[in-house]
Amino acid sequence: MEKNTSSNEYIVIKAQEDGVSVIGLTRGSDTRFHHSEKLDEGEVMIAQFTEHTSAIKIRGHAKISTAYGEVESEKKS
Ligand code: TRP
Repeated sequence: MEKNTSSNEYIVIKAQEDGVSVIGLTRGSDTRFHHSEKLDEGEVMIAQFTEHTSAIKIRGHAKISTAYGEVESEKKS
């Protein structure tokens, strides 16, 4: 079982268009992409911050729900 260093909270990402990317960035002094997940419209990903993941980048139009509130990412115009 992977250790979770920050919290047990999840974030919920719901794609509002095809091809939304959910990108996990590594924890620690070296910050790089370690995983990229593609979501099509209507698909949902539920993710946590973990020992390996300190930041999550979302590209494309999606609704993001967190313990801090809701935000919508927009597609590049
Ligand atoms: N193996 C990764 C981890 O435990 C899986 C993961 C967790 C992930 N949260 C993520 C991948 C967010 C992408 C985005 O950290």
